[in-house]
Amino acid sequence: MKATVKAHTNIALIKYWGKRDERLFLPTNNSLSVTLDKFYTITTVEFDEQLTSDQFYLNGNEAEAKETKKVVTFLNRVREKANSTLFAKVTSENHVPTAAGFASSASGYAALAAAAAKAIGLNLNERELSQLARQGSGSASRSIFGGYVEWEKGMESDGSDCYATPILDRDAWDLRVLSVEVTTKAKKVLSREGMKRTVETSPFFAGWLEAVDKDLITIKEALQEKDFTKLGQVVEANALKMHATTLGANPPFMYWQSATVEVMQEVQALREKGIEAYFTIDAGPNVKVVCQPDDEQKIHEALNALPVVNEIHHCRVGPGITYIAD
Ligand code: DP6
Repeated sequence: MKATVKAHTNIALIKYWGKRDERLFLPTNNSLSVTLDKFYTITTVEFDEQLTSDQFYLNGNEAEAKETKKVVTFLNRVREKANSTLFAKVTSENHVPTAAGFASSASGYAALAAAAAKAIGLNLNERELSQLARQGSGSASRSIFGGYVEWEKGMESDGSDCYATPILDRDAWDLRVLSVEVTTKAKKVLSREGMKRTVETSPFFAGWLEAVDKDLITIKEALQEKDFTKLGQVVEANALKMHATTLGANPPFMYWQSATVEVMQEVQALREKGIEAYFTIDAGPNVKVVCQPDDEQKIHEALNALPVVNEIHHCRVGPGITYIAD
């Protein structure tokens, strides 16, 4: 009744921004991501009849009550599916620089879903695991798979048609993602809270929904044609549209800091010099830069020369979940 799974983070090229059902984590739009090789979570789940409650250890220590509560809620869903009342010990190691703005929830809930399902004896395929992981954190639905992945919003109210599907293998296109960590004293609006406020109050949210479907068509063409310019342009534009919705929310909020804007401007300046780089930004101040292998070093040097840049992590396209023998 024990299993260990490794899952990688992903970065959305077309963003998930908005839920139509908060309890089931059903999104308002499809999203498309690339799984990253460098950052991952390894999670062991052991169901044990000796336990009288669930236990959650994160990076060697007992996790905070808030995090444990989320994990318990998730385990309740797994127990319900398996018709079990057993409690579990969950041990997680996060190899994700949270300061770099990579949400560990994507790799965290993908690893937890797969490990818990296996440990409790549920025999789920990857699509079912994606649906389960989604119920811990939306972006985790995509981290079950490697390469380039689309998460379908689905139409059903029970979420039965809401899961991720791989659309291009990791070996099919060797793109690079530079995660640029900037100096910041930003106060955080968590993505969960940010997207809720935007859906409920921003008049720009309707415009986001109208645009995102077109962006998905464009990026899928770019992936098929391996057209980097087309891909980069739509990635950057989509991130800007997502962030524009937050400015219309009530109260308004903004994830960018001045350092964020400096990096964005440097990326645009690089393009003017003929070096193709495009940025994307999640619910935080750090910037991810997408590029082709030949330009990676030049882009690193230019961004690293900016005083506001703390560190740059280099990622390649990563794999899906793997089971690790105990
Ligand atoms: C901006 O998956 O962290 O990174 O479903 O509430 O856990 P919850 O949110 P989460 O949101 C990610 C938002 C984003 C865009 C994306 O990854 O698609």
